[in-house]
Amino acid sequence: MLKLAVCVSGGGTNLQAIIDGIEKQTITNTKIEVVISNNPNAYAMERAKKHGIKAVCISPKNYENRDAFNEDFLRQLDSYEVDLVVLAGFLVVIPEQMIQKYRNRIINIHPSLIPSFCGKGYYGLKVHEGVLARGVRVTGATVHFVDEGTDTGPIILQKAVEVEEDDTPERLQKRVMEQAEWKIMPEAINLIANGKIEVVNNKVRILK
Ligand code: GAR
Repeated sequence: MLKLAVCVSGGGTNLQAIIDGIEKQTITNTKIEVVISNNPNAYAMERAKKHGIKAVCISPKNYENRDAFNEDFLRQLDSYEVDLVVLAGFLVVIPEQMIQKYRNRIINIHPSLIPSFCGKGYYGLKVHEGVLARGVRVTGATVHFVDEGTDTGPIILQKAVEVEEDDTPERLQKRVMEQAEWKIMPEAINLIANGKIEVVNNKVRILK
């Protein structure tokens, strides 16, 4: 059984897609052990509680400095003994020590086709604003392992979504979520839970 910690900051629609996937068994062999939010008011926390999942708030704001937060975040995460950490709209930089300790055991969903519209400054709506400003015709979402860079780790799954003529950032964000994020995030977890993902030379191999 793959035990997950899901880290969130906002609405938690990706968390919901994972909860639904587990309940409908499109994700098998998986249990959410804990939901961690940096934001005590995140609606994602409510979603967890509604499904009887433990939800805790760990915010940098409650610590004297970043080092103290980083240390306690790692300590608390370790205490849940999870196999995989899922960043589902988590807007806090992951401490380097955590990345090293959980190498290829942290995944992130990013709302564009990496390597486009990613890296520092590209998160949430800003990604879709960038897409519309550049006038690209195709965007999408990416699930990847987390390494020391921003959105640079091995890519697990991607799904393309067409940009429409009258898109606004909000409309595009919603379509990317519906058509891509809520599909590839559960799919990636299911692949990992069933031993179908290998990382070789920093690239992902999907086993048949
Ligand atoms: C999602 O669109 C996710 O891809 C994005 O934040 C949103 C969270 O929505 N993540 C990033 O931009 C990370 N760089 P949710 O709380 O409804 O799942």
